[in-house]
Amino acid sequence: MNGERGFIMSRNIIVGQSGGPTSVINSSLAGVFQAAKDLGASKIYGMRNGIEGLLNEQYIDMTDYLKTAMDVEILKRTPSAFLGSCRFKLPAVEKSPETYDKIIEVLRKLDIQHFFYIGGNDSMDTIKQLSEYAADKNITDITFMGVPKTIDNDLAVTDHTPGYGSAAKYIGTTIKELSRDAVVQPIDIVTIVEIMGRNAGWLTAAAALAKGDDCEGADLIYLPETVFDIDKFLAKVEEIHKTKRQVLVAVSEGVKTADGKYVCEAAATNMKVDSFGHKQLSGTASALANVIGDKFGWKTRPIEFSTIQRCASHIGSLTDVNEAFLVGGQVVKAAFEGATGKVGIYVRVSNKPYMMNTDIYDVKAIANVEKTVPQEWIINDGTYVSQEAIDYMSPLIQGEITPYMVNGLPKHIKL
Ligand code: F6P
Repeated sequence: MNGERGFIMSRNIIVGQSGGPTSVINSSLAGVFQAAKDLGASKIYGMRNGIEGLLNEQYIDMTDYLKTAMDVEILKRTPSAFLGSCRFKLPAVEKSPETYDKIIEVLRKLDIQHFFYIGGNDSMDTIKQLSEYAADKNITDITFMGVPKTIDNDLAVTDHTPGYGSAAKYIGTTIKELSRDAVVQPIDIVTIVEIMGRNAGWLTAAAALAKGDDCEGADLIYLPETVFDIDKFLAKVEEIHKTKRQVLVAVSEGVKTADGKYVCEAAATNMKVDSFGHKQLSGTASALANVIGDKFGWKTRPIEFSTIQRCASHIGSLTDVNEAFLVGGQVVKAAFEGATGKVGIYVRVSNKPYMMNTDIYDVKAIANVEKTVPQEWIINDGTYVSQEAIDYMSPLIQGEITPYMVNGLPKHIKL
């Protein structure tokens, strides 16, 4: 190595996965691996459990696991994070310089020239901190790059995020299937489906995809971008019940009442908080089902999609899987060309036909920023989403990923 990135003869890279997994985070990992290999990387390391594992010197040589093209294809079809994940917030440099010294020490030991982190807005904080530290200490021979990921679709700048399309496809599909089941008996019943996404309603909006010629879909859709009023909610359900006895509601896990409290907080006894300060949200559907049951005495069915929506790779979107692979590779290419402190992004060129490009963008504009659903896309007094929202989501769920079936079940790869 002569110190100039353009002339580095052999390069080692390391890649980690962080935050909540998705159906396609492994497709991005496969994209990073494949591009690094094709561009001549000597060693391709994977951090075990993200930066937390790296600090404990836990890593693998990925070529020990991905030996054939088929292994890479299976990785693309395997949900969750192959390398393991973490929710670990790097302390500020002033508070813990030794943390940064340790990271650089491990990277030096492995002779790493390129560091990649696949994650959402919290995880991009790690790239921001490390790239700023490197700039500060004049460490010019290691690049730090982010690969986007999150089912929540709440990353700034990028048109959408890898992982969102597959989760949205699962939500649209399952709401359709539930629509059939919810009306099966001639009784009064309110089915309430709770959908992930924290403070952004992109995933819950995907419930609207279910509506079509063959499906009435959800009657009410509540996003966290508007204040949730329990009395108004009860009145809406009562109004719909006048024309049909079975009501289907999709609600975000992150809906809050006017006092700023999550609806699920009222029912929670011990709410866990992660290192980024996020409360673990769960129980919204049950809380609302109780309120409905108490008020009207009807049967209720609370359903929490929970982690199923982010690992249902059997119903993954082919568009999502392919884009996730592509952006992983593009970020590697950019890093090999010298970029650092950047995150891969999607740029939508057109909706019909759907065309998308990738690019890279300054991590400072992306780390720790939450992008929410535009207010103008939320209609009917905060109980549904607009056609524009549907047009935005629709291309992202197109195409089916075919799992490799073994003995009747999808084949996965694991450490
Ligand atoms: O950030 C992705 C996400 O799936 C959110 O939608 C959800 O609130 C959160 O992760 C759950 O995180 P965990 O699995 O760590 O409880």
